[in-house]
Amino acid sequence: MVGAASITSVFLLILLAAGPNSLPAFVSAADECQEPPQPAVVEGLSWSFYKQSCPKLEHIIRRHLKKVFEQDITLAATLLRIHFHDCFVQGCDGSLLLDGTASDPSEKEAAPNLSLRAEAFTVIDELSALVQDECGQVVSCADIAALAARDSVHLSGGPNYGVPLGRRDGTSFATQATTLANLPSPFSNATTILSEFAAKGLDDTDTVALSGGHTIGRSHCAAFVPRLYPTQDPTLNPAFADELKITCPDTNSTNITVLDLRTPNKFDKKYFVDLENHEGLFTSDQDLYSNERTKEIVEAFSVDQDLFFEKFSVAMIKLGQIQVLTGTEGEIRTNCSAKNSDSFPGLQYGAEDGTYDGRDEL
Ligand code: HEM
Repeated sequence: MVGAASITSVFLLILLAAGPNSLPAFVSAADECQEPPQPAVVEGLSWSFYKQSCPKLEHIIRRHLKKVFEQDITLAATLLRIHFHDCFVQGCDGSLLLDGTASDPSEKEAAPNLSLRAEAFTVIDELSALVQDECGQVVSCADIAALAARDSVHLSGGPNYGVPLGRRDGTSFATQATTLANLPSPFSNATTILSEFAAKGLDDTDTVALSGGHTIGRSHCAAFVPRLYPTQDPTLNPAFADELKITCPDTNSTNITVLDLRTPNKFDKKYFVDLENHEGLFTSDQDLYSNERTKEIVEAFSVDQDLFFEKFSVAMIKLGQIQVLTGTEGEIRTNCSAKNSDSFPGLQYGAEDGTYDGRDEL
């Protein structure tokens, strides 16, 4: 029989043999032996914001999304992308949800947002109506979008992280130029992506983890055809390139393909396996495996799904708190696609914090 002491010595020997560099540099020893640290919660948000005013909020959202995804799981990807695009432009204030007009186009009309499917915005409206039926007008559309993104991840197989709540809705949307300037391009290399994410307070590990959001969802040919024509990108796996050329026979093709060819609807670590096989769809994805700052992180995630999920959760919590409106800023919208003064023209009301919070009074 092997005694406990000898098992411990063998374990120690293995650890010593592995050497001090066996953990990737971005994984601290603390990560290995304790609960992962939660990112700080910004002032005005909290983990239990609606505990009194809307205790069933998270249950309502998850229950409805389960039904939606039973019909169409691909909407999960669009809901995740909506939250990301909301947060990167003017902060997570629900401004992406606002409709514009012909003379005053909204964020929705900016090129990168045109591929966000209308059905996903309808799902957010449905969630908002369900929540208002239960709790009145207390939960912001920005918070509903953040929770919908989390549930999209989890119901696709990914982590179930906590979402700090209490965001308020913005009363204006960004211009087309601001929207374009703040959303990353799929043609950018990793250095550019890293600095754009750093400008939002996200570090290299956050950036690689969040890029792992491309483990679900789809893309139009336009986002990657420059890698196929006129010259084939040498970092693209030739067999994969041949398949992409069938989907996108020329530079004008409007066809779509999946982002993660291995498990397109499952939130897992396969996106990182794709990158190692030179099967990342966008330059901004594939270059994470060429860049010396990010290659090691890609390698660590490709073999350790728990680590990916942990870092993704941390990064989503950080992403979800970018430039949030809190307290008496902004408003709680009745209709997620219109600011309240457009939903009720002529009705200016007087809750103390400047919002209208009484559907019953209508
Ligand atoms: C790193 C910089 C990023 C770039 C350049 C980028 C770019 C793109 C592009 C071009 C598409 C395809 C749109 C289409 O043609 O339909 C897309 C889809 C998507 N992106 Fe990103 N993205 C980035 C980061 C992220 C992040 C941080 C997330 C979430 C955490 C995310 C989640 C998604 C999802 C889920 C889809 C699929 C959407 C759908 O199927 O409707 N992306 N992205």
